Amino acid sequence: MGTFKTSKVKKKWKVRERENKFKFWQSPSNLLRSAPDNSDHPFALPTFCTTGPEGVPRPRIVVLRAVDAAITELRCYTDRRSVKAEHLAAGSEGSYLFWDPDTSLQVMAGGPTHWAPEDEARNAFRKLPKHGRKAYATVSAPGTKVPHPTSGLPEDWDERQVADTDYAIHHFGILITRLRWADVLHLDRQGNTRMTGSRSDGGDWYWEWAIP
Ligand SMILES: Cc1cc2nc3c(=O)[nH]c(=O)nc-3n(C[C@H](O)[C@H](O)[C@H](O)COP(=O)(O)O)c2cc1C
Repeated sequence: MGTFKTSKVKKKWKVRERENKFKFWQSPSNLLRSAPDNSDHPFALPTFCTTGPEGVPRPRIVVLRAVDAAITELRCYTDRRSVKAEHLAAGSEGSYLFWDPDTSLQVMAGGPTHWAPEDEARNAFRKLPKHGRKAYATVSAPGTKVPHPTSGLPEDWDERQVADTDYAIHHFGILITRLRWADVLHLDRQGNTRMTGSRSDGGDWYWEWAIP
């Protein structure tokens, strides 16, 4: 009888724990889902980090472009010739860092990062207005050393029609980070709270509380 009671209590506790973790994940996951295409959003411009072959981490800001409903894939656009692309080709994973001062939530998340299929990239590029193509339209690769400050765009860029900027499609790519880990920190004067998540590819999130 005693054992039966104990196992019932344990089960209840487990269910409550799952609910607490689920609740804690609600706010950051809603922030992540609502950030793409919302330039005023606190999660719209995360830091995306890769590591060079020599072990030096390199952070940079990107625009968060898409997040799936289950928060397992994050997308950003980039130039295929950029340093981050070199890092990823050499085996680096990608990781994102977000911060929302209103809710006092920090989210770190990352995993293996690969290029989206060609047709997805082509469709996204076609929808970009001329000014949105600039970042992929430099004549030389981003980061190329030059003797004077320059936009790197073709000299006749301002006069060009949108169709004359189509060449930039060859530089344009969509990076998909398939999340395998996440870390949520909530700052609170009463006491900070932290939860870490992990998932195998195709699996659900598994959450554990952690010391902040
Ligand atoms: C507000 C802001 C938004 C940016 N958005 C992007 C972006 O969506 N994709 C991107 O590749 N670079 C973006 N950049 C430029 C990157 O921060 C970085 O300078 C560039 O990607 C080159 O990085 P890399 O040499 O480390 O690859 C953005 C920069 C700023 C300041």
